[in-house]
Amino acid sequence: MAIEDIIPVRFQDEKLYILDQTKLPEHDDFYEVKNAEDLWDAIKRLAVRGAPAIGVAAGYGMYIHARDYACEHGIEDAGDPDTIGTFLEEIDRTRDYLDSSRPTAVNLSWATELMAGTARQIRESAGGKNITCADIVKALGDKAEDIRKADYDSCYSLAENGLSLLKPGMGILTHCNAGILATAGYGTALAPLHLGQERGYGFKVFADETRPLLQGARLTSWELMKSGVDVTLICDNMASLVMKKGLIDAVVVGCDRMAANGDGANKIGTSAVAILAKEYGIPFYMFVPTSTIDMDTPTGDDIVIEEREGSEIYRMWYEHPMAPEGVKTFNPAFDVTDHRYITAVVTEKGVIRPPYDVSLKEIMGRK
Ligand code: MRU
Repeated sequence: MAIEDIIPVRFQDEKLYILDQTKLPEHDDFYEVKNAEDLWDAIKRLAVRGAPAIGVAAGYGMYIHARDYACEHGIEDAGDPDTIGTFLEEIDRTRDYLDSSRPTAVNLSWATELMAGTARQIRESAGGKNITCADIVKALGDKAEDIRKADYDSCYSLAENGLSLLKPGMGILTHCNAGILATAGYGTALAPLHLGQERGYGFKVFADETRPLLQGARLTSWELMKSGVDVTLICDNMASLVMKKGLIDAVVVGCDRMAANGDGANKIGTSAVAILAKEYGIPFYMFVPTSTIDMDTPTGDDIVIEEREGSEIYRMWYEHPMAPEGVKTFNPAFDVTDHRYITAVVTEKGVIRPPYDVSLKEIMGRK
């Protein structure tokens, strides 16, 4: 697959396709997501993953569910208040259902509420005029496309803003995958690395393998090799050594939800990298599109951390079990990096610095 064909969420001819990331790097297969249940499953098992890509997929999922529900119930041309009311309730139910697939990345509930809010708004803005379920379906299709396009554009701004912090030839450490595979565009934390490659920056990137689901090994190293970036795969417990050897000039990572005080949840292991970076005096940059900033969550302690099956730790990627059957496991998918370890937050609107309780308010236009 060529780099330009890596499109994790593809909507084409009224059909939704997902690049199944559970099969990468061995197979790069797309499959059709036919309904909300298929999408719930795709998000849950990480066929589609990465906060912005989950949000984009959820937008399309809400649209195809509403479209098919209206068609199957023969209510497309209906405009009476009862039918419209029932249709809006169904849209809200789909929002709540999709939100239940994964709790940490705020882009999911951000996107589903944008979709549900769009449907409500159509009815409200119509005033006394007749609207039909088909009008609502059309507005949802447009909104899903807007969410995708906004994320695509945001990736370019993140790339430019991120590149302004980096210098040619730098050694850069990243954790998990915050790249093309995680967004509708260039990525977030990997965006400046792709752009730098196009501009001849010659970065030397170290990718943490990212236990237990190996997003760094399976996805980041695959994606960066496709774009020609010099990437070296390391195990998570090697980060301190490469930092101590002076091979790392900056750390770049993504984010799943940033609280109002600047604490940022990202893939499990991120906070350890941040603490190491501070110890070695290396800048730690978190890439956070505004769709990932949750001003209604005061601090990182208020972020719900997803816990996943223990089998992901002891068996999933191995031919043989790597631990005794029945061993107790603890498998949190994310951790929270305290804001005091984050040198700067890169958004599509600009780079912000501490104090984050002030700078986040400013960038989010809150008083
Ligand atoms: O469990 P995942 O693979 O969905 O976790 C993804 C991450 O932690 C990413 O760093 C984050 O979503 C930002 S992606 C631009």
